[in-house]
Amino acid sequence: MDPKIKDVLNRSLVLIGSSADPDKTYLEIFGKNGIFTNLAQEIKNIEPQNRAAFGKNLNEAKEQIQSALDKKKLSTLNSQLSTGFIDITAPGRKQKIGHLHLVSQAIEEIVAIFSRLGFSLQSYPEIDWDWYAFDSLNMPKNHPARDDFETFFVKADRNPKYGQQVLTPHTSNGQVREMERVKTPPIRMLNIARCYRRQIDVSHTPMFHQFEGLYIDKNVSIPQLKGTFDFFTTNFFGPKRVTRLRPHHFRFTEPSFEVDVTCGICQGRGCRLCKSGWLELGGAGMVYPNVLKNGGIDPQKYSGFAFGWGIERTIAMKTELPDIRLFYQNDLRFLEQF
Ligand code: PHE
Repeated sequence: MDPKIKDVLNRSLVLIGSSADPDKTYLEIFGKNGIFTNLAQEIKNIEPQNRAAFGKNLNEAKEQIQSALDKKKLSTLNSQLSTGFIDITAPGRKQKIGHLHLVSQAIEEIVAIFSRLGFSLQSYPEIDWDWYAFDSLNMPKNHPARDDFETFFVKADRNPKYGQQVLTPHTSNGQVREMERVKTPPIRMLNIARCYRRQIDVSHTPMFHQFEGLYIDKNVSIPQLKGTFDFFTTNFFGPKRVTRLRPHHFRFTEPSFEVDVTCGICQGRGCRLCKSGWLELGGAGMVYPNVLKNGGIDPQKYSGFAFGWGIERTIAMKTELPDIRLFYQNDLRFLEQF
């Protein structure tokens, strides 16, 4: 056996022999800076032709150390039991209770707010046909408007009618699907789903959530859309926050808007963080007649509005989070705050 391995093996057995706390000894040997761990890292300095033999020796030593540790653990436990070391009257350890992730909490809240306006939650595929994600929404193949959606395409068979499969880049794929399901308006849909785009920075993660609203009926108008947003923002963000509509362009709505909400820090006066006093929530607009037609609804008879906003972004605006990647790093120091 390699002398270095022999040395670590002997030292480990001595440590175990005199140990009063086998868990601590385990860490001294196999922990991050343990003597065995440090030794194992030396394998990269061994001549390539000797590496296999060194590895084999390492494994043998590891097994010996491990079985000595197991024995020690058992004997320590037995002696604790026989000397009455375990105090059965000591108070129990408190269980740590978890809670829903903040995205799930927000989803529950959003569903509750919109259900008061009569919107009901539907769910549609997160891997969907090109037709529902793009074509039916007035974005034909090769149309430059598709660029904004940074789409992941799936390598799978194409459907002659519906085209390729995509990881849905937005929840708008539910629009025509909902029209097909309900057939005759009124439609009041809330569609919440995971969305995927090839983007990552402080305000984007490749997987995120959107909530999409769709309201179709006779004589649906822009003031109703504005009223719906005001209802949502005062309920979700608090009574002092208001919204505004800014002209924008989407292929599937006309007119189209971007919806802004007043900044929670300066209440719209303008501060270092928001600059203008407004924060951008997401897109919206009056459903384009072609989209209604694609869903089998007569645009002469019915009109509607739609909106689609990012959930992570909406939460970030409520809690003043600087970086939405925090949602998915699973760091308890962050998650426990919500
Ligand atoms: N789907 C659009 C997006 O993800 C948002 C949107 C939804 C705009 C509905 C208008 C109507 O950017």
